[in-house]
Amino acid sequence: MTFTSDKMRFWSPEVRELEPYVPGEQPKIQNLLKLNTNENPYPPSPKVVAAVQAVLSNNADALRLYPDPDATVLKQAIAHQQNVNIDQVFVGNGSDEVLAHIFKAFFIQKEPVLYADITYSFYPVYSQFFATQTKQIPLNEKFEIDVSDYTQENGGIIITNPNAPTSIALGLDQIERVLKANPDRVVLIDEAYVDFGAESAVALVNQYENLVVCQTTSKSRSLAGLRVGFAIAQSHLITALEAVKNSFNSYPIDRFAIAAAVASFEDQEYFETQCQKVIESREHLVSDLTALGFEVLPSKANFIFATHPQHDAALLAQQLREQGIIVRYFNKPRINQYLRITIGTDEQNQRLVDTLKTQVL
Ligand SMILES: Cc1ncc(COP(=O)(O)O)c(C=O)c1O
Repeated sequence: MTFTSDKMRFWSPEVRELEPYVPGEQPKIQNLLKLNTNENPYPPSPKVVAAVQAVLSNNADALRLYPDPDATVLKQAIAHQQNVNIDQVFVGNGSDEVLAHIFKAFFIQKEPVLYADITYSFYPVYSQFFATQTKQIPLNEKFEIDVSDYTQENGGIIITNPNAPTSIALGLDQIERVLKANPDRVVLIDEAYVDFGAESAVALVNQYENLVVCQTTSKSRSLAGLRVGFAIAQSHLITALEAVKNSFNSYPIDRFAIAAAVASFEDQEYFETQCQKVIESREHLVSDLTALGFEVLPSKANFIFATHPQHDAALLAQQLREQGIIVRYFNKPRINQYLRITIGTDEQNQRLVDTLKTQVL
C-alpha cells in the first residue's frame, strides 16, 4: 500500500480491507514471448479491423454521441450465433464486469456461494467486494471438479468450464447434475475458454431456469483489448442483470467495441479456423513437453497446466523469464509446482520447447 494509514482515513472502511485482483503482467521487454495471460496468438478477423475503422469514417457523430446503452445490434449478433432469443443475452465490459453483475444480482444470499478451491482468482475478490458468503470446495486429487460436492446448502454455484488454471473440462451431463440438484439457486457456468474444445452449457439454457452461462470475446475471438463479455440465460435472469447494470453504468460497451464484436460474431468461419489452429498447436505442445518429462493435465483450453517432477516450478518460471519467455506461476497451496502456459503459435511454442531443452532443463 503506497499510502500511510493516516491518509487512508479518507477511504471508506471496507476499501481499506480490499485485496484487489492482480492481473498477469504486461511487461515491455524486447523479443518477449508472452505466454502468461491466455491471450490468443492470432489477430482478430480482418472484418473486425475494417468494422472498427468504419465506425469513424461512416459516422461523423460517432465520438460525440453516446453509444446504444442496450448494444442491441451486438445482442442480436450474439443471439444469432448462440441460437437463443435476444432477451436471453446480456453484454458487459469484459466478462469480468458480467461476473460482477452476476454476483450482485444473484449471489448475495444468506448461504455461501460455492466454487472450487483452485479456480479463477477473481471470484474471491468479488466475494469480498460484494460481501458474499463463500465456501471453497476442494478439487479432487486429480484436480477435477467432483460435482457430488455441489449438493450442499448454498447461495449460488460457480463452475468454471474448462476450469482455470487447471484447464480440465466437465461434460454437460455433470453440469446437468449440478443444475438439477440446485433448482432454487443460480448456477453460473463461466465458459471463458469453452471454444477450445469443451461443451457449452448454452445448449441447456432453455431447459434450466437457474442456469447462467458467461462467455468472453477475449480468448477465442482475439479481442482481449476490446473488453466484451456476455451472459446467456432465461429472460427472468437477464432482467435482473439489466437492473444491476443500469444501476451502475448504462453505457458499458462503446461504439468501437459494439462494431468490432458484431463483425467477429458474423465471421464464424474465421473464428472456427482460429480455434482449430490453437487446439492443434496445443496437442503438439503437450506432446513436446511430455517428451521433456513434464506432466500436463488434460486441457480443453488455450493454455496448459504442467509440472516437472525433477524441476521446481518457480525456478523454471524464473529461468524462462531470463530467456524472455513469460509463463504464469501461482505461489499457492496445491499448485505451486505447476506452470500455466498459454498456447502460442507453432513457432512460439517451438521457441519455448527449444529454450527448455537447451537453456533450462
Ligand atoms: C475463467 C475466466 N473468467 C473470466 C475471465 C475474464 O475475461 P474478460 O474479462 O477478458 O472477458 C477470465 C480471464 O482471464 C478467466 O480466466
